[in-house]
Amino acid sequence: MNFHVLTLFPEMICQAMQSSITGRAIENGSITVEAVNIRDFAFNKHMKVDDYPYGGGAGMLMQAEPVYLAWESVRKRMEAPCRTVFLTPQGKTFTQEMARDLAQSRDLIFLCGHYEGIDERVLEEIVTDPVSIGDYVLTGGELPALVMMDAISRMVPGVLGNEESGENESFSAGLLEYPQYTRPQVWHGKEVPEVLMSGHHGNVDAWRREQSIIRTLRTRPDLLPQSDLSNKEWNFVRQLKKQWKEEAAKKNENV
Ligand code: ADE
Repeated sequence: MNFHVLTLFPEMICQAMQSSITGRAIENGSITVEAVNIRDFAFNKHMKVDDYPYGGGAGMLMQAEPVYLAWESVRKRMEAPCRTVFLTPQGKTFTQEMARDLAQSRDLIFLCGHYEGIDERVLEEIVTDPVSIGDYVLTGGELPALVMMDAISRMVPGVLGNEESGENESFSAGLLEYPQYTRPQVWHGKEVPEVLMSGHHGNVDAWRREQSIIRTLRTRPDLLPQSDLSNKEWNFVRQLKKQWKEEAAKKNENV
């Protein structure tokens, strides 16, 4: 997987990607990261890449031409056309499913905006995937690009030590991950759940599945309709809801 990032802050991309697991993935050749400085493609002596918006309004816009030339410098080295992701709050919200899909590509270009945005005409010509990482506004596209590259890298074979673990976590079955524990067995008076010490794999799996369902119902019930719950598990969900409702009612009585 080769990531190509068009940005005004290449050092931000390189520093972050060279750390931790993505750093190891770069070292072992599973991924490559190239940060292209859009300012290198400015066409005036001040290396300016922004200008005032036609029609007025606050802030400055990145001009079309330097962005296009930066993109072209990457694209012309490629044999096949490749997807260009533009990081923007106006994009489709990034999900695990999108990460899995994008991880199938050999090359990906990320375009990071700054100031108040980018001239629409260049976006029309080069962007295939406008993506938002959530409903909030950041100062630039670099952090969103890093978030996406991190999530996509995990899906690339050879990046995680254990091939399985890319999928065996939160969201993969549409449920949140179960709680985990390591030594010591008692910490601050809290014991590790007994079933995890039983050595009975079937019971451990069943407990973990149940915990995943409880967690998802508690904090992200919106995920449940798309999850892979069995009829028996849906009954468990209904039973939990009833129980929590009764508990809440009892609490209210006591107030
Ligand atoms: N640029 C600014 N805010 C953003 C967001 N939430 N997602 C993607 N790109 C952005």
